[in-house]
Amino acid sequence: MALFLVLVLLCFTGISDVVAKPALDCAALLLLKSSITNDPIGFLTSWNKTNVNCCRGWKGVRCNKTTSRVIHLMLSNGQLSGTLHESVGSLSSLEKLDLSYNHLTGAIPSTVTKLSRLRLLDLAYNYGFQGSIPSSIGGLSSLKRIRLQSNKLTGSVPSSFGLLSSLVYAELDDNSLAGQIPNAFTRNLSNLALLDLAKNKLTGLPLNLRRLARLGILYLSSNPLTFDTIQGLSTLPFLGELHLDNCGLQGPIPPWLATLKLRDSDDFLTSMLSLSSNSISGPIPRTISSLSSVEILRLSSNKFSGAIPSSMGSMLSLKQLSLENNQLSGEIPGSLVNLDLLRWFNVSNNKLSGQIPQGGAFSTFDASCFAGNPGLCGKPLPSC
Ligand SMILES: *[C@@H]1O[C@H](CO)[C@@H](O)[C@H](O)[C@H]1NC(C)=O
Ligand SMILES: *[C@@H]1O[C@H](CO)[C@@H](O)[C@H](O)[C@H]1NC(C)=O
Ligand SMILES: *[C@@H]1O[C@H](CO)[C@@H](O)[C@H](O)[C@H]1NC(C)=O
Ligand SMILES: *[C@@H]1O[C@H](CO)[C@@H](O)[C@H](O)[C@H]1NC(C)=O
Repeated sequence: MALFLVLVLLCFTGISDVVAKPALDCAALLLLKSSITNDPIGFLTSWNKTNVNCCRGWKGVRCNKTTSRVIHLMLSNGQLSGTLHESVGSLSSLEKLDLSYNHLTGAIPSTVTKLSRLRLLDLAYNYGFQGSIPSSIGGLSSLKRIRLQSNKLTGSVPSSFGLLSSLVYAELDDNSLAGQIPNAFTRNLSNLALLDLAKNKLTGLPLNLRRLARLGILYLSSNPLTFDTIQGLSTLPFLGELHLDNCGLQGPIPPWLATLKLRDSDDFLTSMLSLSSNSISGPIPRTISSLSSVEILRLSSNKFSGAIPSSMGSMLSLKQLSLENNQLSGEIPGSLVNLDLLRWFNVSNNKLSGQIPQGGAFSTFDASCFAGNPGLCGKPLPSC
């Protein structure tokens, strides 16, 4: 009788929700477990055949109570080694997949891109996922957050990434992703707010980034870039933080940099531009003061020469100004005492000379902020 009922159900529902899929989900999880080669803390002990219903008591597994389909698979910090089995692609109701902070290796199976309900894909900090980001990644049409950082991913960022129209957070940093970000990247990423591409081998961005209409925080530090290959940044409609440290940038600051649409902290936690540890030469242009909302400006450890422009005294949002380790000369402009919000200022190791401006925030900076400029004098250094 029971068998008959099952057969009838199967006939009427096909291999669909009521009977077949939940059981298939549990079978897919057992396949996933079969490709885990080491589980030193017994993280997956509860996934076993004596306890056959994976919706009841399997660690890290959560099901929808109505459909009995697996919707969350949360296996972060499990000390798991092995690979990610392609059977993950058959968990078609899955909304959250978190395998971060394990020791997983091997490729990201392309079947994962069939999970059209997936909102979170987190494979970060395994230090072992390798190969390319699947070229069909754009199939994850519900994806809001992708975290792939701190792995060994290679190849370029696939064009189909630009189809992830629900995506808000993308963290791809600390891999070996290479080449130019494809033009198609900008196609549908209209909800993207944070993009972290730092510590990769990326060489450039599309020229037109206007469609990244909500992109507020962009990390590009530690990639081999040039000012020419990142010109597209000036087309971003809206920007809070831009990190370009240690990118091998050379030559003078290009005019477009002063046209970045950096907004103030009503929209963002901070407004900052960071260009430290490059080889940028020539003067700091007067036009830098057009970035009037910027709160943190880091130009340290470059090859800037010439005088600090007095126009910087009109950048009234400035809270931090790092100019140390350059070849700046001349006097520190007196206009900088107008910067009432300035809490952190450093011009050490330059060729500045003359009297340090007195008063305002300048009464709070200690001698280390001015060290390594033989020609400077006045408080907090010895008087002139
Ligand atoms: C199977 O899982 C249950 C918990 O769900 C656990 O109590 C039991 O020890 C497990 N059996 C084996 C053989 O690991
Ligand atoms: C469970 O699935 C049903 C049917 O698809 C859906 O209506 C419901 O919102 C889901 N519940 C949860 C908590 O996801
Ligand atoms: C992607 O963008 C194109 C062009 O703007 C638009 O026609 C299409 O509907 C978008 N697709 C999605 C999934 O948002
Ligand atoms: C200023 O920069 C120098 C050189 O990098 C550093 O030694 C010093 O501690 C800095 N001063 C402050 C107050 O951070």
